[in-house]
Amino acid sequence: MREEEMDMTVSLLSESFAESMMMATSYVKLLEFLVKNYLIERREMMPHNATLLGVYRENGEEDFELAGTVELTFDRKGANANPPTPTPPKNSPYICNMAVRKPLRRVLNLSNHVTGYLVRRGIGWHLLKAGEELITKMSSSREVHLHCRMIDEGPFNMYTKAGYSVVKTDSILTLLTLQRRRHLMRKRTSCL
Ligand SMILES: CC(C)(COP(=O)(O)OP(=O)(O)OC[C@H]1O[C@@H](n2cnc3c(N)ncnc32)[C@H](O)[C@@H]1OP(=O)(O)O)[C@@H](O)C(=O)NCCC(=O)NCCS
Repeated sequence: MREEEMDMTVSLLSESFAESMMMATSYVKLLEFLVKNYLIERREMMPHNATLLGVYRENGEEDFELAGTVELTFDRKGANANPPTPTPPKNSPYICNMAVRKPLRRVLNLSNHVTGYLVRRGIGWHLLKAGEELITKMSSSREVHLHCRMIDEGPFNMYTKAGYSVVKTDSILTLLTLQRRRHLMRKRTSCL
């Protein structure tokens, strides 16, 4: 993410957070303010972390649009000071803030009266693979961690399919803090 791409990334992430927290759209502006400040802070940590952007272009068209984003932490210096629970190891590379714009998620329905078929865009999958590839170049660690909320079936399927497994899960008492329970998931670098 270049500096001039920050505002569009802020919008994408804020819409995704509002959706996952089931917040009214009127809160998106407040979220945008918080997300922008967060991204500015994180950019100061480069090259110990990075935010990747995925762009999408329809077949044959020149224009492209921002499709998704993912944040990568490569080492301890780039780590977030207050990571979510269950706490990941400080030295481990870490993947977070993965989001694909809602209309571009999953499959593209190209059904018509002549031929009916679905095209798999796989934007989330490509972002995950690109993130893992960069992590192997930027870190000598042999594992990568990420969080996934227990209720998020789609992302959980994606991470499981990509070879991540649950190492720890928030206790049920987390619900007392009005937060969703999360899994901490890990993949060994040898499988990347
Ligand atoms: C999670 C997310 C990034 C996936 O992006 P995407 O581009 O739609 O995902 P892909 O099309 O690349 O799917 C890759 C795999 O993930 C799994 N998957 C993705 N969405 C799914 C869904 N809604 N239901 C079930 N499985 C799903 C499937 O295994 C899929 O592979 P397949 O299409 O071959 O079956 C997207 O749904 C998103 O932005 N969600 C909101 C934000 C979020 O939850 N982020 C994750 C935080 S942990």
